[in-house]
Amino acid sequence: MKKLMAANWKMYKTVAEGVATATELAKLLADRLPADREVLVCPSFTMLSAVAPILTGVEGCFAGAQNFYPAGQGAFTGEIAPEQLLDLGCAYALAGHSERRHVLGEEDGLIGKKVAFGLDAGLKMILCVGETIDERRAGQVEAVLARQLEMGLAGVLEKATAANLAVAYEPVWAIGTGEVAGPAEILAAHAFVREKLVALLPSEGAAVRILYGGSVKPDNAGTIIRLDNVDGVLVGGASLKADSFSQIVLA
Ligand code: 13P
Repeated sequence: MKKLMAANWKMYKTVAEGVATATELAKLLADRLPADREVLVCPSFTMLSAVAPILTGVEGCFAGAQNFYPAGQGAFTGEIAPEQLLDLGCAYALAGHSERRHVLGEEDGLIGKKVAFGLDAGLKMILCVGETIDERRAGQVEAVLARQLEMGLAGVLEKATAANLAVAYEPVWAIGTGEVAGPAEILAAHAFVREKLVALLPSEGAAVRILYGGSVKPDNAGTIIRLDNVDGVLVGGASLKADSFSQIVLA
């Protein structure tokens, strides 16, 4: 499987700014993307229709959504359905990002529904998992990851494959803090996620991509991407500028 180099633009940028960044990124990556890498950008919903065609114009680049509501259509004021994302050119979506868990109060049950509904609708899903600093200090890293993986994947044990599912390990204490997890912490967490994936998805778990996220920057991406069981990165702050994200993609 190709390494998945993913950008999460979170709640940043106007449409014009998103178009400008995507245009610059497309120029920086066209004809330079190594055969073993693919690129994903997840902008705000507001600019998906403008940004997706720019990205998908480059071989190996995709657009994705940061969130959706797990229903086909209906009376869900303010929400967006997977079908509406596919209609805009999205190939991927995130579920369970730590900001949705901790700021918006999303729980494992809802996140599991999103993973299952998204896969059924035809989106490739990235399930985000990760512990808080208090959970790490209390020695609960593996227990937290196990629960988030079991509940997040409960509805897809029969249908998740290495092609339609990825997991992003994003320790909450490393997100947006500049405090990147060290190689030993990343290796241990990714090895545990791998073990759990193989147990939950016996035929596919060994090949499901595991991304690392949390203060990935151009100067640490090369080391992180070469660690065992690291099959990609999910980048917040350093993905907002095309130059910095392209350096990470090519690291
Ligand atoms: P930062 O790269 O800004 O730490 O954010 C990581 C993240 O949350 C990606 O989803």
